Amino acid sequence: MIVCSCNCLTDSEIRATLASRACPRTPFEVYKCLGCSLNCGRCIATVRTIIDEASAGTATGGSSGEPCETDATVLCPV
Ligand code: FES
Repeated sequence: MIVCSCNCLTDSEIRATLASRACPRTPFEVYKCLGCSLNCGRCIATVRTIIDEASAGTATGGSSGEPCETDATVLCPV
């Protein structure tokens, strides 16, 4: 499902980024990790909800279950 029409981001892409080693914790980190930025802002509440759901599902981030202790901006390739 498209979450952000300005950047053509899907919920699957956002969830995959949240599960990555970068484990962004804010919508702005999510956008940055996906190589884009906030534009109109209509999607930010949905992105926040997805982040909250991902956080509630696991106390740790990253695909290996390691804690999110590294700043996402360090690991994001963009
Ligand atoms: S819908 Fe995401 S910035 Fe516009």
